[in-house]
Amino acid sequence: MQRGLLLIIILAMFASLSCRRDQPVFETDEDDSTVIPETIKEGYSDYFITGVAISNAQINGEEPQAMEIVKEQFTSITAENDMKWEYMEPTEGSFYYDDADLHLAFAEENDLTMIGHTLVWHSQLPSWVRSITDSATLVTVMKNHIDSVVGKYAGRVHGWDVINEAFEYDGSFRDTVFYKYIGESFFEQAFAAAQAADSTAELYYNDYSMTSSGKKETVINMIEHLQEKDIRIDAVCMQGHWTLTSPSVEVIEQSIIDYYNAGVKVIISELDVTVLDQNNDADPYVDGLPDDVATDLAERYAALFSLFKKHEEKIARVTLWGVHDGQSWKNYSPYSGRTDYPLLFDRDYEKKACFYSTLEAAPK
Ligand code: G3I
Repeated sequence: MQRGLLLIIILAMFASLSCRRDQPVFETDEDDSTVIPETIKEGYSDYFITGVAISNAQINGEEPQAMEIVKEQFTSITAENDMKWEYMEPTEGSFYYDDADLHLAFAEENDLTMIGHTLVWHSQLPSWVRSITDSATLVTVMKNHIDSVVGKYAGRVHGWDVINEAFEYDGSFRDTVFYKYIGESFFEQAFAAAQAADSTAELYYNDYSMTSSGKKETVINMIEHLQEKDIRIDAVCMQGHWTLTSPSVEVIEQSIIDYYNAGVKVIISELDVTVLDQNNDADPYVDGLPDDVATDLAERYAALFSLFKKHEEKIARVTLWGVHDGQSWKNYSPYSGRTDYPLLFDRDYEKKACFYSTLEAAPK
């Protein structure tokens, strides 16, 4: 065969291969002015920080494909569990930093913003803390934990979830060991301690159901209380553990506006969208997600990210609570052993329809 003809055939084969895409070819509008981004960070980084929660297995190298997704798609990471009290100070005064160090190293190696989660929470709290019944002792222990952990990473953590889930739906204080033995002042004491330990870190209050009116009223009152005492709180985190329909975009939007008007930024800190009924243990999608439900999920994510884009000046960050569906806590909460599909990547690390719909919602 003549060399010229062979060269033409090789070039034709290369041209056809280079056109193949592993993902749908995105349409652009007729004048090509709207180009659909190819990654979450490309689509949204002009509006807010994009983040994802990293598991202990992932940061310890057990899921390299997940970590490639993190590097490709996001600008921030949160340790899903590794920086919680039960892991960081399992026994009094004995700190364990190895796994947290891995998160910090990965973030710094890949130019990712590191989020500290979380300092004061009634859950995943070691028993030696839960058993304290003396106010002064608990204050000392709480401040020492905050000073040690925040101080250890001073200047390297962008912001801390200082307190997690301190209030009930109706806005009353949750009956935690901190509230029970220190009283309401544990809230301001925790924020003041974090501010003293690292003046460069942003300070957040993190909670779920932040659209419920009672909780919203109490959180706004607490923001104002901290501001009056000149104790810094930079943002409130609406965790964003939502369903396909609830809360509505309108209800979420009003909460974003209300918190922002209280003088703080808003963070969507733990976004996932369950497709399962939260009021019974039905597990209908064990063999896969039906197309119609996948479409509902794609539309929900597009609507949520369109809302976040609309209020970009109020929103500081949106973090997905996991890289892929197999990692999600929703597979075992509120009912264990179920198969949920709450995130942007599937159990094979493949992009889902809701990933593409989220990208398509990005352009202004
Ligand atoms: O560390 C143990 C390990 O030693 C043991 O072998 C393994 C199997 O039993 O369990 C491991 O602990 C699990 C831990 O995650 C680490 O994987 C706990 O059982 C499990 O309950 C825990 O779940 C975490 C949950 O918080 C605890 O409440 C989820 O991964 C995590 O996604 C979830 O995240 C919370 C946020 O921090 C705060 N907002 C709510 C959100 C959902 O609960």
